[in-house]
Amino acid sequence: MARFPALIRRAAALAAVLALLPAPVLADAPRPEIPRGKGDKCVEPTEVMRRDHMKFILRHRDETMHRGIRTKKYSLAECINCHVPKAEDPARQVHVSSPKHFCSSCHTYAAVTVDCFECHSDVPQETGVAKEDLVVPVHGSAPALDLEQEAARMAQAGGGAE
Ligand code: HEC
Ligand code: HEC
Ligand code: HEC
Repeated sequence: MARFPALIRRAAALAAVLALLPAPVLADAPRPEIPRGKGDKCVEPTEVMRRDHMKFILRHRDETMHRGIRTKKYSLAECINCHVPKAEDPARQVHVSSPKHFCSSCHTYAAVTVDCFECHSDVPQETGVAKEDLVVPVHGSAPALDLEQEAARMAQAGGGAE
């Protein structure tokens, strides 16, 4: 009867080890080279981000789109600002099509495809009005907005302040 607790201990130890591994390792692929983010920490602990980053951004997107909650913490634009270095020479800018782009570094290995960058910028943006101040009613199926133009319109209308 001593066998049962021992098994549980082993299962717990295995779970602990697995939790430390990035998802692509679990998928039996070699560990991708992930470019390091700016600053010394992410918006959540690194292990949590590895596992759950998609939940944070997708939840934030829904909160922004449907409930008008606008915070910067999980903004996709902020992920890109920290994680993708802006090249001096635009011709040398790394885009999401390259496995060197932060978001693609793992996705390529894990064979994950995201359509986010068909509309969202995959490089850091410097716009006057934060992009998260713009709201469109339908997400994903909405036609891409001209964000630059929309920002200018909002600035003129004096809106958009937090
Ligand atoms: C068809 C175009 C389109 C696609 C595809 C798309 N988005 Fe968006 N998304 C928008 C628009 C337009 C807004 C509102 C303007 C803004 O805030 O950038 C928005 C807003 C957001 C926001 C809130 C603002 C911010 O910067 O945090 C998040 C988060 C977001 N999208 C995440 C995603 C993710 C993740 C994907 C891919 C799974 C995705 N979007 C795919 C058009 C799109
Ligand atoms: C203030 C800058 C900053 C912001 C904003 C930021 N990150 Fe991070 N992120 C980091 C740093 C620094 C690390 C830690 C890198 C390390 O530990 O080697 C990190 C780690 C990660 C990791 C784990 C990478 C690995 O090596 O396994 C993921 C995934 C991640 N971030 C995704 C995101 C997403 C998605 C967003 C937007 C919701 C975001 N980050 C916003 C700075 C940032
Ligand atoms: C540490 C590796 C890693 C990094 C870095 C990373 N991802 Fe992911 N991402 C994954 C894995 C693995 C999955 C699939 C997880 C699953 O299916 O459960 C995923 C899934 C996603 C999904 C959900 C896709 C879907 O269709 O369900 C979104 C959205 C996403 N990532 C966005 C991003 C963005 C944006 C970045 C860059 C800011 C990024 N990821 C960086 C590993 C990573």
